[in-house]
Amino acid sequence: MSERVSTHGQWSSRFAFVLAATGSAVGLGNIWKFPYITGENGGGAFVLVYLVCIALVGIPIMMAEILIGRRGRASPINTMRMLARDENRHGIWQVVGWSGVVAGFIIISYYSVIAGWGLAYVFRSAAGVFNGVDAAAAKSIFDGLVLDPEKLLAWHTIFMVMTTIVVSRGVRSGLEQAVRVLMPALFVILLLLVGYAMNTGRFMEGVAFLFKPDFGALSAGGVLTAMGHAFFTLSLGMGAIMVYGSYLPKDASIARTSITIAVIDTLVALLAGLAIFPVVFANGLEAANGPSLIFNTLPLAFGHMPWGAFFGTLFFILLVFAAWTSAISLIEPAVAWLVENQGINRVKASTLVGVVAWLLGIVTIMSFSRWRFEFNFAGEKKTTGLFDVFDILTANFMLPLGGLAMALFAGWFMSRQSVVEELGMGDRVGFRLWYYVVRYVTPVAVVVVFLQLIGVIDIKDWK
Ligand code: PHE
Repeated sequence: MSERVSTHGQWSSRFAFVLAATGSAVGLGNIWKFPYITGENGGGAFVLVYLVCIALVGIPIMMAEILIGRRGRASPINTMRMLARDENRHGIWQVVGWSGVVAGFIIISYYSVIAGWGLAYVFRSAAGVFNGVDAAAAKSIFDGLVLDPEKLLAWHTIFMVMTTIVVSRGVRSGLEQAVRVLMPALFVILLLLVGYAMNTGRFMEGVAFLFKPDFGALSAGGVLTAMGHAFFTLSLGMGAIMVYGSYLPKDASIARTSITIAVIDTLVALLAGLAIFPVVFANGLEAANGPSLIFNTLPLAFGHMPWGAFFGTLFFILLVFAAWTSAISLIEPAVAWLVENQGINRVKASTLVGVVAWLLGIVTIMSFSRWRFEFNFAGEKKTTGLFDVFDILTANFMLPLGGLAMALFAGWFMSRQSVVEELGMGDRVGFRLWYYVVRYVTPVAVVVVFLQLIGVIDIKDWK
């Protein structure tokens, strides 16, 4: 088969792809979400399950997703359709592409609202609002933001416009450059925050919380959340990495690239955890604080360190940038498809996608104030909003199921020869190991996590 060429262009090098894919992977998931879901699920055991999922499920699926993308060289919908045809498989496989586009819309709609919190905090920090605050003041600053739909709408709009502009210009001009500088800067600032955390006197408590597994604290739902987060944080299962892979030069090593991205992504998340939890414990806050966790804790750290307003501003700028480089990858699959199939240009396509995502974002905005509902969960009264529904539906269900389908497609439905050819690492030990994992270990792991959720198997009984 002659090699396909993407109509959207190609990355300038393997390194450019690593930057873009790392930009996609490292985002709110690492700095905002990882700490709060770790806090809600009891710490160490959750982190351990998450790390196992990155290794056994995340990296193998990332390789599968990139190789599928590079072979198809088109939007995920068209890639799945064409590869299914190449391999004489049913056209139904393109559903994987469609479900990815839907998941992308749902995720970007709330992702943009949270990124908007980050934007708001850039300005609050720069204005010195956090200087000397205590826990109560930090909380009231946060509540003043999320309980005000108008403010949220303004920030959400700004972030959505930022995202749409970049995607409309094509991923190559601008973003490649920005990520090159911003990612290392984010890393350095996180190290600085970890340094601050070391001085809170509760650092070891934070370390123990993150790394000492207490399996009693982990529920079946927690196991699913850990696995879902492995997908979310690596941007897997919805076509973001597939579409980026479709712009990848032929000679780049998919295996090495995937491992690099996963390692950097994991380090950023762990550093964020090490920066947050000591501050949580030192200030008598709850680890199970939910989505507001970093917005309630980091102002305390910045409010009490020398140059805090400066570092705080810088930190939130970097957080927004991390979110930005992820957000563009969330809408790229839909935009690429519109350009390919509807004959409209990139600018129109991204605007259209941006407007739909913006409208959907209003649901999330309202779900922090007006649109909340009460329900009973295991005898407890809880309130929730559609934001939680969106989050759980995408991260815990759509992404793992999408990723499972990609693993099955690469492992069982593409010919071994196509896969060997595309990965370009020969039919040797490395390849065989991956092939075995992606055919057996990964699918079984994903299915077991779902089964234990519906109580067919109770992992806790296996001790
Ligand atoms: N990986 C991103 C993060 O951790 C979120 C994301 C998910 C991006 C899925 C693209 C696709 O913030």
